[in-house]
Amino acid sequence: MHLLFLTAATLIVNIGKIGSIFINGTGCGTTKMCLFRPRGCDPNLDCTIGVALSIVGPNQMNVQMVAATIVPPVQQQYIAIAFSHDKLMGNDSVSECVISNMGEFVGYEPEVYLSYNKGKSNDRVFLNDDEHAEMFTNLAGEVVDNRLVCEFTQQVMPQIDNKNGLVWNLNSPFYLMAATGSAQPDEVNVHELNRDSHSFPITSTETINPKSFANNNLN
Ligand SMILES: *[C@@H]1O[C@H](CO)[C@@H](O)[C@H](O)[C@H]1NC(C)=O
Ligand SMILES: *[C@@H]1O[C@H](CO)[C@@H](O)[C@H](O)[C@H]1NC(C)=O
Repeated sequence: MHLLFLTAATLIVNIGKIGSIFINGTGCGTTKMCLFRPRGCDPNLDCTIGVALSIVGPNQMNVQMVAATIVPPVQQQYIAIAFSHDKLMGNDSVSECVISNMGEFVGYEPEVYLSYNKGKSNDRVFLNDDEHAEMFTNLAGEVVDNRLVCEFTQQVMPQIDNKNGLVWNLNSPFYLMAATGSAQPDEVNVHELNRDSHSFPITSTETINPKSFANNNLN
């Protein structure tokens, strides 16, 4: 009985160590695009929300996201990055990571989805398993020290059906936005609406083409 307990406890500790995602802030603005809040925060320590995006291969963009966990805790929390033609929500392509708390002994399960902001609401774009596997790879996520961290690789120019225009080619200048909030199995809930809150969405001040954050040989 005691042995069993110890084994389970050791396993949990190990998973925590192995899974640790490091968001390297070096190169922000040159080799990667970063949005962190509050200004000057450390994404591995005290950012309330943050995203870092870099090109890691031909047509492959690595997305790292971090958010402080919502208080009181929720069973599912999302961090989303939106690619927008303007600084407002509406007609944006969104990639969102949802992390579910599966309970003390199971840990946290990350999922990544593609969605679309139709006006002020957000709709998931249905991808079948093959399309999802083509679009997203290398998903990892965890909750450590009251921080949600998620990482995945996404195709810049999706090699899948464009779903009547809901799947976008991201090789183009966009405003980037990041938001967090609680999620439900099939959708995300509205993000923080209080402008003074640290988890109110952040928006880039200028448009950015994700493809420009790469070494030339990757473009
Ligand atoms: C962070 O990135 C820089 C520049 O790419 C690299 O030199 C450095 O070793 C990285 N730091 C860690 C801890 O990985
Ligand atoms: C959304 O943006 C795209 C690209 O600029 C544009 O072609 C499309 O008409 C827009 N759709 C809506 C519903 O505004």
